[in-house]
Amino acid sequence: MKNILVIGSTGQIGSELTMKLRGLYPQGNVVAGYISGAEPKGELLESGPSALVDITNPGQIADAVDRYKIDTIYNLAALLSAVAEVKPQLAWKIGLGGLFNTLEVAREKGCAVFTPSSIGSFGNSTPHTKTPQDTIQRPETMYGVTKVSGELLSDYYAKRFGVDTRSVRFPGLISYVAPPGGGTTDYAVDIYYYAVNGETFKCPLKPGTLMDMMYMPDALRAAVEIMEADPSRLKHRNSFNITSMSFDPEEIYAKIREYVPDFKMEYELDPLRQKIADSWPDSLDDSCAREEWGWKPEYDLDAMTRDMLKNLRIKLNKDK
Ligand code: SER
Repeated sequence: MKNILVIGSTGQIGSELTMKLRGLYPQGNVVAGYISGAEPKGELLESGPSALVDITNPGQIADAVDRYKIDTIYNLAALLSAVAEVKPQLAWKIGLGGLFNTLEVAREKGCAVFTPSSIGSFGNSTPHTKTPQDTIQRPETMYGVTKVSGELLSDYYAKRFGVDTRSVRFPGLISYVAPPGGGTTDYAVDIYYYAVNGETFKCPLKPGTLMDMMYMPDALRAAVEIMEADPSRLKHRNSFNITSMSFDPEEIYAKIREYVPDFKMEYELDPLRQKIADSWPDSLDDSCAREEWGWKPEYDLDAMTRDMLKNLRIKLNKDK
């Protein structure tokens, strides 16, 4: 039986991952860890236990692990890339300080730990096309610095202390459920809301800005599958490249217009986001994840677009 603690359960990934885990491990506890001011509500609150777990407070992590006999921690606490540039000290405190606290509790109490890394762990000196699994990682954003350091720290705890740490490098994640906040890839979520609301979208990135992206159902499945993978097959741990698709603003705009022909997009560049996006890969090579644990995406740009538009129309009451 798996007893799971999700730290950051009310965030962009956590709110959906917690519900997915509760569906997959109904016999165990899937505890929704939250911080004050971001309490779980509705289905997330009602479908299972929740606990106040601020990742910067090691005592709160340890208490929840003891109380619910936790054996697996999903650590999803982080500030996204653009916000982390505005608050770099807080980004470090949560991203790295928080990870250290989590790994120490995991070491003492024998938990496995999943902590996502990101395309943000790469930088300008990384090969941008078909970015290999093992390559140069010299990011210049605080988000990226915390992600590379987190990969190294997680591998250290695996080798030195035998903590079962595993991770994937998520591309930009797209979902109609929880709105993201403060990321560089988030334009690819916002654009669907504008299309469904019949408003002109002002794109913060210029044409030709390619980045890897993934629909949330694939991302959630990846987070589960990597933790369920046969450890004897894993040559890597922290962290696996995974991707579903790579597109630029023109391609996603053209795809949406296939289904919303009168949709309009203009460009209004955000220099901070553009600089960050330019430093990230255009496309990842995820062959190691495919070989070592059978990773395979299900959604491409077309399938994702149809599903996003369908579900956002329902969510925003635009269904005709
Ligand atoms: N979606 C994240 C961001 O844009 C990247 O992992 O910050």
